[in-house]
Amino acid sequence: MPRRIVILPASTKAGRETIRVLLQSESKPFVRAVYRNPAKAPAEFLQNPNFEAVQGDVSSGSGLDFAGFDTLFYIPPRPMSPGVLRLNHISDEILKNSVPQVSIVRPGYITEEWAHFLDAAKADPPVLHSWISPVDHKVPMVDLKDIGECCANTLLSEQTKPSPYYFKLFGPQHYSSADLKDAVEKVVGTKTELKLIERDQLSGFFAQLGIPETHVPDFVGMTTAVLPGGIMAGDFGYDEDTVRGKVELVDGLREMYEKKQQG
Ligand SMILES: NC(=O)c1ccc[n+]([C@@H]2O[C@H](COP(=O)([O-])OP(=O)(O)OC[C@H]3O[C@@H](n4cnc5c(N)ncnc54)[C@H](OP(=O)(O)O)[C@@H]3O)[C@@H](O)[C@H]2O)c1
Repeated sequence: MPRRIVILPASTKAGRETIRVLLQSESKPFVRAVYRNPAKAPAEFLQNPNFEAVQGDVSSGSGLDFAGFDTLFYIPPRPMSPGVLRLNHISDEILKNSVPQVSIVRPGYITEEWAHFLDAAKADPPVLHSWISPVDHKVPMVDLKDIGECCANTLLSEQTKPSPYYFKLFGPQHYSSADLKDAVEKVVGTKTELKLIERDQLSGFFAQLGIPETHVPDFVGMTTAVLPGGIMAGDFGYDEDTVRGKVELVDGLREMYEKKQQG
């Protein structure tokens, strides 16, 4: 019997890429995708008879009906979503009993977040602003393709580890600001200038990006946690509980660049 899988919320980047892989899977799982606004479901998914888009909201609990489904993929919305405490309550109290087996993925930084560097490299002057400092400090990054594949495989396979099972999902290697600059220059074919955002400049940097004032300290905290001496900086080793993705940074950026060029 094909697996019946719920994706919540389906509009996240990880949700979208995982659905794409699931709908291509030979095991033909049925996918229920929960959107605040189901009109956001991509047309390519809606054409597939094994896909349905339903309305649901993680913060109100509406539409969170998992009856008849055997697997749930929950992606917590970003910390700056309104009502983050209620969201945490829902994920802790409502979702924890919804399935008997739980796997929790801890991915590296999604490489798509650097797509704006491809535009910056073509600007005049071509300047890349990076918060990864010092210039050769490496942090885990992972391509969305690797995320989609890993999450789809996890959803389709039987879990053999004790529940809940936590695992890391990183790219083939970690990358630094210097690596980012090299990769962008290779893809775009121009020289760029790299400007590092130092710790005392992070608040101003995030505020300038439009992060709401009340969430700026959270963003600074999350960022410094992965910098040298930060509380997460020692957690980035590859071990038996790490999935190593295949897509190198330069290849992921090249694909994004080609898509941008095609409009
Ligand atoms: N981006 C990264 O580099 C990265 C790395 C590691 C971990 N993470 C974590 O992964 C998670 C997802 O990140 P992401 O970058 O994939 O997010 P994203 O692309 O920004 O997507 C967030 C989505 O959540 C939906 N959403 C927000 N509140 C909702 C609610 N109450 N009910 C239903 N849907 C709701 C929004 O849908 P609509 O507005 O369309 O309704 C939005 O499309 C976050 O917890 C993030 O911290 C991200």
